[in-house]
This record gives sequence, C-alpha cells and structure tokens, in this order.
Amino acid sequence: MTFIVFILMFTLTLVAHRAATQEIRINEHFVECQWSSDNSALPQNLMLICDTSESQHGLVYWKKGSKWAGNGRTLTVRVRGTPDAGNYTCWSNTTHELLSSNAVYITKKNEKGEIDEPILKKDPEKKAYFYCEANNYSGNFTCFWKVQSQNPNLKFRIEYEDENQTKSASGTVICDINSETTNTEYSASCRRENPCSYTEEYEPIVVFLHVFLTDVFVYEKHTRHFFIKDILKPDISLCQVTRNGTLILLHPATWSTPVSYFGLTYQIKTVFNNNEEISEVDHSSLLHHGDIMTITKKLCCYSGYRCLIRSRDHYNSHSAWSNWSSCRYRIN
Ligand SMILES: *[C@@H]1O[C@H](CO)[C@@H](O)[C@H](O)[C@H]1NC(C)=O
Ligand SMILES: *[C@@H]1O[C@H](CO)[C@@H](O)[C@H](O)[C@H]1NC(C)=O
Ligand SMILES: *[C@@H]1O[C@H](CO)[C@@H](O)[C@H](O)[C@H]1NC(C)=O
Ligand SMILES: *[C@@H]1O[C@H](CO)[C@@H](O)[C@H](O)[C@H]1NC(C)=O
Ligand SMILES: *[C@@H]1O[C@H](CO)[C@@H](O)[C@H](O)[C@H]1NC(C)=O
Ligand SMILES: *[C@@H]1O[C@H](CO)[C@@H](O)[C@H](O)[C@H]1NC(C)=O
Ligand SMILES: *[C@@H]1O[C@H](CO)[C@@H](O)[C@H](O)[C@H]1NC(C)=O
Repeated sequence: MTFIVFILMFTLTLVAHRAATQEIRINEHFVECQWSSDNSALPQNLMLICDTSESQHGLVYWKKGSKWAGNGRTLTVRVRGTPDAGNYTCWSNTTHELLSSNAVYITKKNEKGEIDEPILKKDPEKKAYFYCEANNYSGNFTCFWKVQSQNPNLKFRIEYEDENQTKSASGTVICDINSETTNTEYSASCRRENPCSYTEEYEPIVVFLHVFLTDVFVYEKHTRHFFIKDILKPDISLCQVTRNGTLILLHPATWSTPVSYFGLTYQIKTVFNNNEEISEVDHSSLLHHGDIMTITKKLCCYSGYRCLIRSRDHYNSHSAWSNWSSCRYRIN
C-alpha cells in the first residue's frame, strides 16, 4: 500500500525590538502537512536554531509552551500534525533568559491538496475564500472574507507581493484591515501607491491573506491574482421616475471620471407581478443634461410596475454588475 505525503516548509524571520539594547528574534515557520486518505502523514524533521553564538551550544535549552523540549543550540522537531505546532522558545542555561522564539504554524491539507477544515468560509457565489472588488479605476479596492466561526484567537495579515520582486511602475499596494466587522465577516481597504487609472494594467495585482489561529498555531494562506479592470463593481446609481415615465439617472457617485471616458453600460429592469424584463442601454446613448441622464420608459410610471437599474464597466463584460437600485417616484 502506498500513500503520498509531502511537507513543504519555509521560514520567515522577523526581528522584534524588545528593548532598546536587546533584540529578540521571532522566527515563523510554516509547515504544510499533507494527509493521505488513510489518515496518515509522514513526519517531517524541522530544524530550529537558537539565535545565540555557536560557543554557547551546551548552554541553551528549549521549551514548547511551558514544557521542556530539548537541550543545545539546535532543536529538531518531528512535525506530523497540529499537536506539533506551537511556540518553541530557547533559553539560556545560565541566566534562564529568553534567547529567541520560533513559532511553528501548521496547515493541514487533505489528499487532494486542499486545506483540511479551513478557517475561512468559501463564498458560494465567488467560489473563493477571499475576493476583492473595486468601485472605480482609482487603484483603491476592498477585499472580503468570512470565517466559519468567530474566534478571539484569529489574526489576519494581508499583504501584496510583486511576483518578480521588482518595483513595478504601478507601485506597491497597501492594505488596512477594517476594524468594523460583523461577527464573521471581514474586509480590508487596499490602495495602490502610484495609481494611474488611464494606463493599461500590464501586471496583475497579487494579494495574500494570511490567517492565523494563534492559540493552536494553525495557519492558512489564500491568494488572489487580478487586474483592477476585472474586479470592478460600480456602486449603485440614483434613479428617479417622473409622472410621464422619464427615468432620471445619475452615474454611480464613486465611478471614475470623466464618465464619457470610463463608460458604463446600464440595464433597466421592469417588474410587473412576477414578470421581469431587462433592457440594456449604453452611457453614450442616454440623453445627457450635464450630470443627469434621462431615458423614457413609459411602463415605469404605471401603477404595479417597478423599475430598477444597474451598471457595469462598458469596456469589460467580465467585470461585475452593480447591485440593482430601485427607481423612486419623483414627487413634484
Ligand atoms: C545545561 O545544559 C547541559 C547540557 O544540555 C545540561 O546537562 C545541564 O544540566 C544544564 N545546566 C544547567 C545549569 O541547567
Ligand atoms: C512565544 O513565547 C515567548 C515567551 O513566552 C513570547 O515572548 C512570544 O511572544 C511567544 N510567541 C508567540 C508567537 O506566541
Ligand atoms: C484611496 O483611498 C484612500 C483611503 O483609504 C484615500 O485617501 C485616497 O484618496 C483614495 N485614492 C483615490 C485615488 O481615490
Ligand atoms: C515576471 O518576469 C517574467 C520574465 O521577465 C515574465 O515573463 C513574467 O510575466 C513576469 N511576471 C509578472 C507577474 O509580471
Ligand atoms: C416628462 O417630464 C419631464 C419633467 O418631469 C420633462 O422634462 C419631459 O420633457 C417630459 N417628457 C415628456 C415626453 O413629456
Ligand atoms: C473611487 O473609489 C474610492 C473608494 O474605493 C474613493 O475613495 C474615491 O473617491 C473614488 N474615486 C472617485 C473619482 O470617486
Ligand atoms: C449588494 O447586495 C449584496 C447582497 O444583497 C449586499 O450584501 C451588499 O452589501 C450590496 N452592496 C452594496 C455596495 O450595496
């Protein structure tokens, strides 16, 4: 009987300033344990090195949490599953001072290579654990994700990486996780450092979402690659219906300007009883009166009929439609 197991590892080193005179290294290790269908995984050796001089080899001991874990400057950890994840610290044998911390995070994957029991919840519509949307071409966008259940030990880090490790013309992306979240829903506001909405995008933006469960040292990483033009979703447009059946529209307030350049396509939906009818009209074929656009839809002023509108980037039919907005009756 054969089963395939492989473990990927990488290590990240961060330096935290503990005190003005002393630096404590916090090393993060990420181990991917792939389990086979018979619920087994091959153990993998991970070597941790205490951040101290080699001459102190015999003068160092290790703890995992509060338990002794070994002696010597290096510690080999057999990693098989989540119980091996944790905070491995090394201490001076003489002063019992903390020398360095090694956080070992584990991602458990199933035999298909998918994350086992993911922390995040897949969006059924987007078929993704996290996704981003932009309401215009400015280079600002928002990313969204949901967790399976609320947990005070959850920590997120969202970062951008230039795949080629070169400074691209469009600059880097900075994301801030929004503090106002509902119970299980999170978002981050991101912006490009040097946005240039008029130029063609040549390189996709790559955003990583790192998810940590800090009490059990479980970790998962999710990635999105996209061009701004493909994640556009305009905000809703204001719409009114006059007594004679004229629809008065405003383009979405946050859409890129000039709107004549960043064109939009609109859909108008008329609803009567349970029947719906949708017609499509381009920004350029609407009647313009300054910022206001009009189109005649006689049915919209009849009682029992409801009219709604939505819009989408005219130049990219892969991008998303805005939410529908209901046209209100104009009282005048
Ligand atoms: C220091 O480490 C050595 C070797 O690992 C060990 O045998 C010894 O008991 C330790 N000494 C002290 C003072 O903890
Ligand atoms: C690991 O333990 C050390 C010592 O208690 C602590 O300073 C450090 O913050 C811990 N690291 C993590 C990631 O919990
Ligand atoms: C992007 O959003 C930031 C706030 O997050 C704002 O200060 C900035 O003006 C926005 N940039 C553009 C081009 O709209
Ligand atoms: C990275 O560079 C290679 C070779 O120059 C190029 O083929 C590739 O498209 C670049 N990747 C991105 C994401 O720009
Ligand atoms: C409908 O009413 C609007 C003002 O409410 C007016 O500007 C427009 O000319 C009228 N259209 C028709 C076809 O009567
Ligand atoms: C584009 O959207 C961002 C928010 O994502 C907003 O800050 C900015 O003002 C919008 N730009 C325009 C031209 O409205
Ligand atoms: C669009 O509709 C969805 C689903 O009803 C809602 O969750 C979301 O907040 C709406 N978005 C905006 C920008 O109004």
